Amino acid sequence: MARLTGGRPAVPRPGGCSWATLLLLSLPIQAALKADLSGEAAAATINHSLALIHRLQELLRHGNASDATLRVRPVGSDEVKVFHAHQLLLALQSEAFASLLHNQSVVTLHEPADSAALFEKFIRYLYCGEISILLHQAIPMHRLASKYRVATLQRGVAEYMKGHLASESSQGHVVGWYHYAVKVGDAALQESCLQFLAWNLSAVMASAEWATVSAELLALLLERSDLVLQSELELYNAVEEWVGHQQPEGPVAEKLLRSIRYPMIPPSHLFHLQTQSAALGRHYGALQDLLFQAFQFHSASPIHFAKYYDLNCSMFLPRNYLSSAWGSQWVISNPARDDRSTSFQTQLGPSNHDTSKRVTWNVLFSPRWLPVSLRPVYSDSVSGAIQSVRIEDGRPRLVITPAMTSSDFAGVSFQKTVLVGVRQQGRLFVKHAYSFHQSSEEVADFLAHADLQKRTSEYLVDNALHLHLIVKPVYHSLIKVKK
Ligand SMILES: *[C@@H]1O[C@H](CO)[C@@H](O)[C@H](O)[C@H]1NC(C)=O
Ligand SMILES: *[C@@H]1O[C@H](CO)[C@@H](O)[C@H](O)[C@H]1NC(C)=O
Ligand SMILES: *[C@@H]1O[C@H](CO)[C@@H](O)[C@H](O)[C@H]1NC(C)=O
Ligand SMILES: *[C@@H]1O[C@H](CO)[C@@H](O)[C@H](O)[C@H]1NC(C)=O
Ligand SMILES: *[C@@H]1O[C@H](CO)[C@@H](O)[C@H](O)[C@H]1NC(C)=O
Repeated sequence: MARLTGGRPAVPRPGGCSWATLLLLSLPIQAALKADLSGEAAAATINHSLALIHRLQELLRHGNASDATLRVRPVGSDEVKVFHAHQLLLALQSEAFASLLHNQSVVTLHEPADSAALFEKFIRYLYCGEISILLHQAIPMHRLASKYRVATLQRGVAEYMKGHLASESSQGHVVGWYHYAVKVGDAALQESCLQFLAWNLSAVMASAEWATVSAELLALLLERSDLVLQSELELYNAVEEWVGHQQPEGPVAEKLLRSIRYPMIPPSHLFHLQTQSAALGRHYGALQDLLFQAFQFHSASPIHFAKYYDLNCSMFLPRNYLSSAWGSQWVISNPARDDRSTSFQTQLGPSNHDTSKRVTWNVLFSPRWLPVSLRPVYSDSVSGAIQSVRIEDGRPRLVITPAMTSSDFAGVSFQKTVLVGVRQQGRLFVKHAYSFHQSSEEVADFLAHADLQKRTSEYLVDNALHLHLIVKPVYHSLIKVKK
C-alpha cells in the first residue's frame, strides 16, 4: 500500500484494493449474511457499524494511505489548511470531488472564510455521514454542500433550516436564510422563510433583523394579505423605520409606502401620520391620492363609497390583525375532551362609519365532529353499519356565526381566519392559518394532523390549543386571499 504524496497524479489501479475499499466492500457482505440467516432461529446481527465509522474518521485524522490532498484557502488569507483525504471516499459522496480529483491529487480550494472554517466538519461528514450544526453555520455549510454537490447534506441542511426557523437567536437568522435561499435558487426554503416571516411579522419588525430585510423581500411581504401583526399602523411604522434606515431611492420608498393599506388605519391615526410622519412628509406627493381615498373611505358609508370606488382591491382587504377590534384569542384546554363554545365582539367594519358598531360572534369548537355522510344511519336493515362508524372518525370543526341576523350587515361579508399557534423549541409561533366564511368544513385540512388526543401533540401548549380568531369584514363577497 503506497502513500501518495503531494503533486503526484493518482493513477487509477483497476482491481487495486485500498484499505478504504475493503471497509466499504464489507458492508454489503454483512447485509447479505443477515438476509441468509433470517429464516433460522439462530439469526443474529453482528453490528459493528459504529466501530467502522470510528475507523473511517481515524483514517481521515491520520491521513493513512491518503491519495488526495485538499488545500483549503480562505478568501483574503494566506493561511492554508491541508487535509489528507481519499479519492474513493470523496468521490463516493460528491461528483464534484470525483471530477476535481480525476487527473490530479492535490487541489487548492478557495472558500469564503466562514465556509473554510467549517471545512473539517464538512469533510468528516463525507467520511462518517454525521454532522452537527448550529444556526449560524447553516448557510456556510449549505454553501459547501452545494458547491461540492453533496446532495444529501444539502437536503439535510435545508431541512434543518426549515425546522429551525423559530429558534431563538440573538440577531435573528430567517431574513438571512431567505436572502441566501433566493441566491441559490432553493424555492422551497425561500417559501418556508417567507411564510414564517409573514406569520411572525411583529416579532421580526421589532428585532435587529428588520434593518437587514432587502427592498425586494419587503415588497413581497407588503403584498401579502396573510401577514400576522397587531395592526396596519404597526406595519406603517416599521416600513417608515426601514426607509429611514436603508435610505432607498425615492421611487423604491414610494412603492413600498404605497403598499400600506391606509383605509385599514383609523382616521385619527391617519391624521396623526399626515402631520407627524417624516417619511410621509418627504413622499407626500406620491401618496396623497391614497391618503385622500382613505379619508373618503372613512367618511362615507361603505355602500355609498362603493358606488364611486372599486372595493375589490387589496387596499381594502384586511390582513391578519391581532388587535382586539378584529378578533380574539381563544385558548382551549383539554381540547379533545368535548365540544366548547365562546363568544367575542368585533367592529362591524374598518370604515370609521362602522367601527363603533359591534358584532357579537358565537364560536363552537368540536374535537370530533362527524360530517353527515359519515353519521350512522339508524335503520333496522343496516344494523351492521352503525358499528363501523367510531367516534375517532370525527375530525375537529370550528364554526363562527354572528349572534344577530345577517340582514344587519348590508354590504359587508365576513371572512374568518383562525391562526393556530404551536410550540417549537419552547416558543409559540403560528403554525397554520385557515380561512373560511363560517365553518372550518370549508377547508379540507382543518387541524388535520393535530393529534389532539395525544398529550404530546405539538399543537398543545400546556395541554391547551392556542387559537386566534380573526374576523375580516370585506365589502363584497369573499375574495380569495393571496397567500
Ligand atoms: C447498528 O448499530 C447502530 C448504532 O448502535 C444503529 O444505529 C444501527 O441501526 C444498527 N444497525 C442494525 C442493522 O441493527
Ligand atoms: C494510521 O496512522 C497512524 C499514525 O501514523 C497510526 O498510528 C495508525 O496505526 C495507522 N492506522 C492504520 C490502519 O494503518
Ligand atoms: C485536469 O483537467 C482539467 C480539465 O478537465 C484541467 O483544467 C486541469 O488543468 C487538469 N489538471 C492537471 C493537473 O492536469
Ligand atoms: C376581484 O378582482 C379579481 C381580479 O383582481 C377578480 O378575479 C375577481 O373576480 C374580483 N371579484 C369581484 C367580487 O369582483
Ligand atoms: C410568531 O408569532 C407569534 C404570534 O404571531 C408569536 O407569539 C411568536 O412568539 C412568534 N414566534 C417567533 C419565533 O417569533
